[in-house]
Amino acid sequence: VKINFTLPDGSTRAIDAAPGGSLMKAATSHLVPGIVAECGGNASCATCHVYLETEDVALACPDGSVEDEMLDFTASPRRANSRLSCQVQVGDQLEGLTVEVPGAQV
Ligand code: FES
Repeated sequence: VKINFTLPDGSTRAIDAAPGGSLMKAATSHLVPGIVAECGGNASCATCHVYLETEDVALACPDGSVEDEMLDFTASPRRANSRLSCQVQVGDQLEGLTVEVPGAQV
């Protein structure tokens, strides 16, 4: 699954992620900088915050989820397209997606 990351300095990184794992694991295992993931993927730290460059409502954070609550504690401003990358599964729905890494995670 091809995923493109835009980094805070304006540079980009393209990765080819294996389906099935989380977007956070895919990013960190490909050494994409700027994703801290302090809690290791439990939706309890909000330091794996990313912005998904998509209008696809299927990729929006589920209302009322733990993720939804944690997104109120991100270091960078929450946007409509904010997600915790540990809660996003890698699959065909992410093919070609651009993911923006926020300027700050802590
Ligand atoms: Fe902690 Fe995603 S890794 S919330």
